[in-house]
Amino acid sequence: MQMNNQRNRFVYRLWAPVYDVVLERFFRGGRSRSMERLALKAGERVCFVGVGTGADLLYLPKGVNGIGVDLSEAMLARAEKKLPIAGCDIELRIGDAQALPFDDGGFDAVILNLILSVVPDPARCMSEAIRVLRPGGRIVIFDKFLPDGTEPTWGRRLSNLVSTRLGTDLNRRLGDILCGLPCEVVHDEPSILWGMYRVVLLRQAPWQVGHR
Ligand SMILES: C[S@@+](CC[C@H](N)C(=O)[O-])C[C@H]1O[C@@H](n2cnc3c(N)ncnc32)[C@H](O)[C@@H]1O
Repeated sequence: MQMNNQRNRFVYRLWAPVYDVVLERFFRGGRSRSMERLALKAGERVCFVGVGTGADLLYLPKGVNGIGVDLSEAMLARAEKKLPIAGCDIELRIGDAQALPFDDGGFDAVILNLILSVVPDPARCMSEAIRVLRPGGRIVIFDKFLPDGTEPTWGRRLSNLVSTRLGTDLNRRLGDILCGLPCEVVHDEPSILWGMYRVVLLRQAPWQVGHR
């Protein structure tokens, strides 16, 4: 089943009241590792793409400011309850990860936790994340991927029929998503569920001549 924004809005409206209760503990290790790897510093400006209930906000060091964007009003309402974050200036906004409502180059860092497996067009989402980064800015990803160059097993295809209905795709490959985009992987480590989830740090690289 293909993901689409209309269904995502519906599914995440259902998830919103229970998301933290059901999933916060499960994702905690990978999430904290992703924030550790991103190593935000005071004064930096960060964009949370698909911020959801704002679970990442709780890992911010003091002095960081930024904006969280999400398609779902219900998820954002949960994130709103986590504000204010001591020492940080955070704004929340409705928006589409595939067409971020920001100018080019305005952020030092972008957080793409558990969003590339959710948006209808992950390459578009990735390209937008790169666009809003300053030159040399960094992106962290915590998400599940199919290993590059492999095909899903039948079991995984069947599980995906359920999973996509619950708002996430099990069978996306990070290599396919990044293909041709101006960024480089600077760190990639296995995370929860025996490495099905990964924590990846990327750095924006200049566009090749002729691209864009
Ligand atoms: C699995 S949740 C992850 C939330 C959060 N990033 C986290 O780490 O817990 C996926 C989020 O993506 C949001 N979403 C889905 N499609 C989106 C889109 N096109 N643009 C922005 N957000 C989207 C959903 O509303 C939901 O809040």
